[in-house]
Amino acid sequence: MVARSLLLGLALVAGTAIAGDLAAGRAKADAVCAVCHGPNGLSMQPNAPHLAGQPEIYLVEQLKNYRSGKRSHDVMSVIAKPLTDAEIQNLAAWYAAMQVSVQLP
Ligand code: HEC
Repeated sequence: MVARSLLLGLALVAGTAIAGDLAAGRAKADAVCAVCHGPNGLSMQPNAPHLAGQPEIYLVEQLKNYRSGKRSHDVMSVIAKPLTDAEIQNLAAWYAAMQVSVQLP
């Protein structure tokens, strides 16, 4: 019984960590990222990619790659440098939670 509730507790903690904090992600995105990637994750700049609806795993990986230098870009390397793991997780959760619809030409 104790073991089971411990497992459940761990699962909940892990679940929270994976899901990220949407509100915190949004606050950071609005403050830092929206000027280029748009407040709705649709890019405002011709050379910046849309982030809305991108898979969370992909966003986390790319931000960590910019931060470590594995992926390099004049702007994004500087922006990713000070981000903590938690901030990256929250930002990724925020953009991944956006729903995008596509219309074929
Ligand atoms: C000054 C403009 C600017 C700001 C501000 C900015 N970005 Fe970017 N971002 C770019 C550009 C330009 C690229 C394309 C870089 C490349 O070619 O690798 C990019 C690429 C990315 C990518 C890779 C997307 C992909 O499809 O591989 C992610 C993820 C990303 N940005 C997240 C963020 C987040 C999160 C923030 C805020 C913390 C942010 N960016 C702030 C301009 C910006």
